[in-house]
Amino acid sequence: LRHRYLDLRRERMNSNLRLRAQTIQAARRFLEDQGFIEVETPVLTRSTPEGARDYLVPSRVCGGEWFALPQSPQLFKQLLMVGGIERYYQVARCFRDEDLRADRQPEFTQLDMEMSFMGQEQILELNEALIASIWKAVKGVELPRPFPRLTWHEAMERYGSDKPDLRFGLELKEVGPLFRQSGFRVFQEAESVKALALPKALSRKEVAELEEVAKRHKAQGLAWARVEEGGFSGGVAKFLEPVREALLQATEARPGDTLLFVAGPRKVAATALGAVRLRAADLLGLKREGFRFLWVVDFPLLEWDEEEEAWTYMHHPFTSPHPEDLPLLEKDPGRVRALAYDLVLNGVEVGGGSIRIHDPRLQARVFRLLGIGEEEQREKFGFFLEALEYGAPPHGGIAWGLDRLLALMTGSPSIREVIAFPKNKEGKDPLTGAPSPVPEEQLRELGLMVVRP
Ligand code: AMO
Ligand code: AMP
Repeated sequence: LRHRYLDLRRERMNSNLRLRAQTIQAARRFLEDQGFIEVETPVLTRSTPEGARDYLVPSRVCGGEWFALPQSPQLFKQLLMVGGIERYYQVARCFRDEDLRADRQPEFTQLDMEMSFMGQEQILELNEALIASIWKAVKGVELPRPFPRLTWHEAMERYGSDKPDLRFGLELKEVGPLFRQSGFRVFQEAESVKALALPKALSRKEVAELEEVAKRHKAQGLAWARVEEGGFSGGVAKFLEPVREALLQATEARPGDTLLFVAGPRKVAATALGAVRLRAADLLGLKREGFRFLWVVDFPLLEWDEEEEAWTYMHHPFTSPHPEDLPLLEKDPGRVRALAYDLVLNGVEVGGGSIRIHDPRLQARVFRLLGIGEEEQREKFGFFLEALEYGAPPHGGIAWGLDRLLALMTGSPSIREVIAFPKNKEGKDPLTGAPSPVPEEQLRELGLMVVRP
């Protein structure tokens, strides 16, 4: 990255950037044909809550006051709907101060869309057509449609993930009920016992490696046993014998397989074994090829934040609850579904969106549920609630993580490979040396003082 311009001379980087441009061009062509118009929204703005920290920019003119860089154009695109722009899109730069990963950059690009008078079904269909037209134009490939759909609940139960990789099977099975009378305390007392049958007699070393993965995902352990002709061996075999037939049926395990189990709270059992599933696919050397798109729908509206001991939004606070679940909003908030959807490709969340709240009273109700009181509502989102008062059409939208999509299209291990000048793993740009200290003089002008850590 220090000499990125030399790196860009290489064929691979060069063709990645070319493919990026072609993809954006194909998207623009499709959206323009569908009557969308591209609108630029401010980069110097107020905080938009998408769950990350804001980057702040001090204002010299209004000393002591700050702009935030947008985490997404969320509020502006909704205001455009109030403004009668019925179909909006933008290739939008977003800024999020969060820890970096292979698929996360502090600044990244969304293909952002919002549309009025369209429901979830129509938005998903339009996006499938858009993806298909890009694949056709850029890769010359006809994608099978419609994309499969899973509810969030199904995805968690069957794959232990809200972004399952469907390029291979290995589904998780719930076997908790089989052990209710078993006397095997770990399984008997757990809220959930998830099982996974792997078509291989794993070595102890391999089991130990998978157990590490499970523990890193909060599991207490990983129980296992080998399936033999007429019985089980190793690990917890003796506890499984009493329910042999039912267990083999539930897990579809065959002689020669290894059965793996995580017992625990529902979410832990699923996500820990879901992580084991992914690692196991590597161990088994399963081929993961092609492009397997999927929609995950019916996300919960809220999620319990253990640390804050409060409900927090799962997508963002402007997402509409499922109309059927409105009566539960105050009574049983954890069970309320949202009209929210994610686009998943090969186990990666490449896009997310929702139908929005367009009624200011419902918006205020959801804010209250999130512990955002009247005063804070007025202070942070007053301008937005006021806009809704003028009458907002029903609307919804989605944003794709364009960098992630391109990384998958090009088979790149990191989104850095599809961005011309990315930040490194420490969030720095070694080419220009940013971020860097600034002269005292500049700080004084801004009325700032640096407190060194
Ligand atoms: P969300 O926060 O899900 O939704 O973001 C949309 C998509 O952006 C990508 N993404 C990122 N890519 C690279 N680096 C990051 N740091 C990063 N963070 C997110 C992901 C994600 O699916 N305003 C809503 C969209 C909407 O509701 O219309 C939003 O921003 O691929
Ligand atoms: P222990 O009785 O703690 O020695 O555990 C016996 C076996 O059960 C070990 O292989 C543990 O990894 C496994 N184990 C312990 N707790 C759990 C759990 N909650 N779910 C699945 N396996 C577990």
